[in-house]
Order: sequence, then structure tokens, then C-alpha cells
Amino acid sequence: MTKALIVYASMTGTTKGIAELLAEQLRALKVEVLLEECTEVYPTEFLDYNICVMATYTYGSDGALPEEAEDFFYDLEEVNLTGKIFGVLGSGDLIYDKFCPAVDDFDKQFEKTQATRGTETLKINLTPEQKDKEDIKQFAKNLVASYSQSL
Ligand SMILES: Cc1cc2nc3c(=O)[nH]c(=O)nc-3n(C[C@H](O)[C@H](O)[C@H](O)COP(=O)(O)O)c2cc1C
Repeated sequence: MTKALIVYASMTGTTKGIAELLAEQLRALKVEVLLEECTEVYPTEFLDYNICVMATYTYGSDGALPEEAEDFFYDLEEVNLTGKIFGVLGSGDLIYDKFCPAVDDFDKQFEKTQATRGTETLKINLTPEQKDKEDIKQFAKNLVASYSQSL
């Protein structure tokens, strides 16, 4: 069975909710999913999974990473995830100058692991609306299709 690990950083629950919606969609595609908060897990955990996902919000005046996700972020580049499929999504607020920059930062960090990008990043403005839920569904489908193609 295909296995996915979704790691998330969420201060007020929005990104956690997005991660849960993605887990639901992946499970509907027969993927076994584990959801973990970023302080509870090391990036090496991804080695046991086929699909590796990071869900993050952005915090700080200069569009910084969530503080609690920093260790996970810097440790991630040390892990060789060759053969794995990755995807990054998250929530931000369009009111800020930079929208969801932490999503882009994680996307670039995953590139250093040699994992294969299974889908483009998905950036959601605050709480997901119907269109965003469709995008999450497509995000899940893309990840699974990329994994199937990689076999
Ligand atoms: C102090 C502060 C700074 C923020 N900076 C940004 C930012 O630079 N870019 C952005 O897109 N969103 C920014 N946000 C918005 C959050 O990322 C957004 O509210 C997100 O949905 C929070 O996710 P969470 O509920 O999972 O914690 C900021 C929020 C706060 C409170």
C-alpha cells in the first residue's frame, strides 16, 4: 500500500485543517496516511514513506518560517529522499506583501533532498473555501499519479 507522511506547522489550526483535508483525500485514493506536527517528528521519518508532504503557514513581518518548524526545515536538507515524491502546501494571508513564502522555502528545501516534486505548491488564503478544497483534491491526485509513474 502507498504510504504518505504529512508534516504540518500550524499556530491557530488553519494549516492543520488543510493537512487533515489532504489526508482525507489521500485516504480516498487508498493511501495510508500519517499526520504529524513538525515538532513531533524528524525529517528522517520520511524515509519510511512513499509520499512526503509539508503543510506550513507563514509568520513574521518578513515572511519567515514558523519558528517551531525551523529545526525540521534545516534538518530536512540533510536527508536523502531519492525515489520519494514530495509536495508542499499551506495557508497564508493575501494581505501580506509576500503570500505564503514559507511554502516556497520548503519547496526549495525538498529539492535538496533529491526527492521528486509530485505536484506544484498549493497556497491557500486563510481557511479553505470550496475552490481550495477542489485544489486539495487535485493536489492529492497529482501526488498519487506521480508516485505511480515513478514505479
Ligand atoms: C504576525 C503574522 C505574520 C504573518 N505573515 C504572513 C506573511 O508574511 N505571509 C502570509 O502569506 N501570511 C502571513 N501570515 C498569515 C498566516 O500565515 C495565516 O493567518 C495562516 O492561515 C495561519 O495558519 P495557522 O492557522 O495554521 O496558524 C501572518 C500572520 C501573522 C499573525
